[in-house]
Amino acid sequence: MFDDKKVIFSGMQATGNLTLGNYLGALKNWVDICEDYLTFFCVVDLHSITVRQDPAELRRRSRDLLTLYIAAGLDPEKNCIYYQSHVPNHAELGWILDCFTYVGELERMTQYKDKAAKHADNINAGLLTYPSLMAADILLYQAEYVPVGADQKQHLELARTLAERFNNVYGDVFTVPDIWLGKRGRKIMSLQDPEKKMSKSDENPNASIYLMDDPDTIRRKFKRAVTDSIGAVKYCDEQPGIRNLIDIYCSCTGKSTEECEKEFEGQGYGVFKEAVGEAVVGVLKPLQDRFRELSADKDYIDRMILQNDEKAMYYSEKTMRKVRKKIGFPERPRLK
Ligand code: TRP
Repeated sequence: MFDDKKVIFSGMQATGNLTLGNYLGALKNWVDICEDYLTFFCVVDLHSITVRQDPAELRRRSRDLLTLYIAAGLDPEKNCIYYQSHVPNHAELGWILDCFTYVGELERMTQYKDKAAKHADNINAGLLTYPSLMAADILLYQAEYVPVGADQKQHLELARTLAERFNNVYGDVFTVPDIWLGKRGRKIMSLQDPEKKMSKSDENPNASIYLMDDPDTIRRKFKRAVTDSIGAVKYCDEQPGIRNLIDIYCSCTGKSTEECEKEFEGQGYGVFKEAVGEAVVGVLKPLQDRFRELSADKDYIDRMILQNDEKAMYYSEKTMRKVRKKIGFPERPRLK
């Protein structure tokens, strides 16, 4: 809580091409819930370097992601949209929380185990301590709610544990955060294998809709999406492909599952897939136009970055002053 407002914090990494899943599952959700809260939406670039990155690429993608937050409808005058690396308090609190986290807790994290297996030649300490840095992101701003996907649940649990552990030693310093799972809890799956999450790192380009895919590519990918054998647009476990397409259609149009089933009653998959493609184009085309417009306005984006860096510094510093004092770091003398 800051200024009598509850706080929402979330972040995304600027690695890989963002997909429709990132938009419908996260970004769009943020836009829908941000009213009435003090909100922080961070481009978590410190987290990105746990895996080796090309510097120019990282810089460009980070800027694109920040621009995309705004293009998606997060007003940067109201929401604090900023880069993690511009606010050193993240790294400082990350270190402090490292000293309150047990190695065993970190080794148990499934994301760590997955990434360690995938990057066996570079199992660096940052890969292991990633979750304490993530906890620092959240606790710095006294966030009540953290809208993230279900895959981040384990990390959120650790953030709660660390907040409670710290509070038990030093008194009430941190708000204990709660995960905020999307209203519908809809996870967007691969168009080629609906048992798998739609991923920015899928090798099959037809499996994912990228946010910057042009309309024809989007239509084509939906035409090729795998369907099932029942032959009816019906939401059920036996048809994971169709279920996924219904989820996408409903997320894009705001219609309910029942409305969607009625609309396509007695029609084949082909008609339905075409409609899903159009619905997605209807959502992504304006987003892309806005993104291009914003990207061209360098001064505006720069101004928002400066303004929001200050805002993030201001709030995170409030927490850090308390933390440093509680821990016993020497006071910073103020010269008169
Ligand atoms: N680990 C998150 C992910 O991979 C990204 C992230 C980093 C994050 N810090 C955060 C999300 C703080 C929410 C809050 O999606």
